[in-house]
Amino acid sequence: MIELSQVTKTFGEGETAVRAVDDLSFRVPRGAFWAIMGPSGSGKSTVLHLIAGLTPPTSGSILIDGFDMARATEAEAAALRRRRVGYILQTFNLLPFLTAEENVAMPLVLDGVRDGEIPGRVGEVLELVRMSHRAKHKPTELSGGEQQLIAIARSLVVKPSVLLADEPTGSLDRSRGRDFMGLLREVNDVTGVTVLLVTHDPVFATYGDKVLRMVDGKLDQEVELTEPPVPSRAAASS
Ligand SMILES: Nc1ncnc2c1ncn2[C@@H]1O[C@H](COP(=O)(O)OP(=O)(O)OP(=O)(O)O)[C@@H](O)[C@H]1O
Ligand SMILES: [Mg+2]
Repeated sequence: MIELSQVTKTFGEGETAVRAVDDLSFRVPRGAFWAIMGPSGSGKSTVLHLIAGLTPPTSGSILIDGFDMARATEAEAAALRRRRVGYILQTFNLLPFLTAEENVAMPLVLDGVRDGEIPGRVGEVLELVRMSHRAKHKPTELSGGEQQLIAIARSLVVKPSVLLADEPTGSLDRSRGRDFMGLLREVNDVTGVTVLLVTHDPVFATYGDKVLRMVDGKLDQEVELTEPPVPSRAAASS
């Protein structure tokens, strides 16, 4: 569960101050899949940064599973982010000298997870994103779409409760973008991770259950979506 209450984020001071997020409140229920849309500069990325605890809000509170990101110390925010928040960006940020499976294992290594436990957990998420056959490949030997799947696997390996994605399809073509979104939807169904996706593409936004539209740091519109374009695995089996 993600809950923002009256969150404001101002960058700079005086004449040049920019209110990137302006008195924003919303609550994303556990397991939901929401998209955020809005013009360039409307504050979408800033919202994700605030939720990830990468930057503190100027005022307001940000709860993740009841824990207040806004009041956390830097060390607490870092620990919370490492354990509970997965983050996927437009650029995949995979380490070029490591194989796909080594990249995926990295968050576990950094978190001091026992060596014996790592291969099993890495194998599990690689299977989830259907990339087991590319485990030994380096990023340069993978397509853009494949690299993005490895990036999702890496963000899921810590079993986060929240997955934040900032234009993850930005460098993929339409068809790979659709495949990626279908998989993100499936990951949401299978693992129950709460997904918050920023996208400029209205088609990709419809993969979620709700679209928030931001303008000038505020919520301009909320649209509930009842029928996702692809039948989810959960829906198909019920
Ligand atoms: N570190 C920063 N310092 C100063 N201003 C910033 C900073 N980060 C963002 N801003 C400003 O805050 C506003 C919101 O930026 P943000 O990156 O959240 O927009 P966005 O909705 O993600 O846009 P885009 O669709 O182009 O990615 C913009 O006016 C931007 O210039
Ligand atoms: Mg942005």
